[in-house]
Amino acid sequence: MYSRKLHITTFGCQMNVYDSGRLSELMRLKGWTMAKNQSDADFIFVNTCSIREKAARRVIGHLHKLKAMKYKNPNLIFGVGGCVAEQEGQNLLTEVPWLNLVVGPGRLDEIPDVVDALTASMPAVILSGRRPDESPSTPLGPVIPMASPKASPDFSVDNAAASETGPISAFLTIMQGCDNYCAYCVVPYLRGPETSRPHDEVVAEAAGLIARGAREITLLGQNVNSYSRTSSRRGLDFVKLLQEVDSLAGLSRLRFTTSHPKDFPPELVELFGCLTTLCEHLHLPLQAGSDKILSAMGRRYNRQRYLNLVDELRRACPDLALSTDIIVGFPGETESDFQCTMEMLDLVRFDSIYSFKYSDRPMTAAMRLPDKIDEDIKARRLNDVQQFQKTVTVAKHRSMVGRRLEVLVEGFGRRNGQLTGRSRDLKPVNFDGPPELIGRLVTVEVTEGFPASLLGVLQDDPPR
Ligand code: 5AD
Ligand code: SF4
Repeated sequence: MYSRKLHITTFGCQMNVYDSGRLSELMRLKGWTMAKNQSDADFIFVNTCSIREKAARRVIGHLHKLKAMKYKNPNLIFGVGGCVAEQEGQNLLTEVPWLNLVVGPGRLDEIPDVVDALTASMPAVILSGRRPDESPSTPLGPVIPMASPKASPDFSVDNAAASETGPISAFLTIMQGCDNYCAYCVVPYLRGPETSRPHDEVVAEAAGLIARGAREITLLGQNVNSYSRTSSRRGLDFVKLLQEVDSLAGLSRLRFTTSHPKDFPPELVELFGCLTTLCEHLHLPLQAGSDKILSAMGRRYNRQRYLNLVDELRRACPDLALSTDIIVGFPGETESDFQCTMEMLDLVRFDSIYSFKYSDRPMTAAMRLPDKIDEDIKARRLNDVQQFQKTVTVAKHRSMVGRRLEVLVEGFGRRNGQLTGRSRDLKPVNFDGPPELIGRLVTVEVTEGFPASLLGVLQDDPPR
């Protein structure tokens, strides 16, 4: 029997990747299979991101490129999801009139039923906000294995979840939305208020992922530290959740992202270096180095508090690798404010950073601020930040030569015969080895350090 085929392209954050996986699983339950490429598909879905202006523009450009497919196959159903869909709604149909379906992230679970009822000649369906009958604590749905793409901003992946067995490294969304309203950020307006999934459901899903072959799980949320919050203090429910997932048999590695520095209780700091599966890496967005800009951003910490937290974390776990997000050119950022950011990079010496030029986002408080920074100044500051960080990262990577790392082998490297994986501190490691090692933990001795990866030699001894 012919089964209808689905193709998904995912832009943006890991939470979008998780959502795409959930959609493909829900569609699979209705008899759909994944198309090998877009030209085989009966339904093409593009899951989008609008966190920064550049990301949103890239999505629109991608949609325009797909127009020809619609002419070739008039029965094709075309859907757009994610934050661009939520933000633009009806406007998206003006720009891209051949769309059949525009669905915000809160309405994703309705797609399979809607697609079943939809034909390409019907007027487009727009779903946004939360489902009218949904209570904030409604569980997100069934167990979905998700492959994790390389962490990088503005990535896109095709059919990320198209595997029958689960991935070696899986994502698991534990909470959605955000209550923080940082002045530059559109997320609270598009993803809504914080809602956490029930504890038992998350633990059961983690167990399911492990049963389907996951060795590594990354817990996801816009601000995972505020998970649940039935405890009186922020972060304690998250600590309990981490402890429980850590104790599941068969799990080798546990990670989480993203954390807000203002919600980091000592109990959470102490878990690093004490929970066996919790990996020695933390993404801790700093955003800016000057107290004036941090305050204007509404981040609710200052540089000293951030530095103290880094000290505490490194005391608890001396090998902890840190990555961060940096925005340059926030409205009102003077040259000396910017130098404070550069100073923080020097003081903390992050392992890696994601850096962005500030861009106005609709609805945000920063959009209405005066003293916008010229594009060429933003570009120069971005370049300064990236050049400086490159020297730090290369120095760190070179200092690792001779170290033996536990590597979870994720797939083939770029060169023939090469495999690639990640160390516990999230560094990409390439080495020569046989394909049977994919999905296994191995020991690799580092021989060279590059700006974005390590090269090493496979060792005989088993990983610790
Ligand atoms: N301009 C530039 N960068 C932004 N980010 C979020 N909103 C904006 C914006 N308006 C960055 C922040 C955040 C990351 C996911 O994207 O650094 O941590
Ligand atoms: Fe956006 Fe701030 Fe919430 Fe992160 S914590 S999602 S930057 S509002």
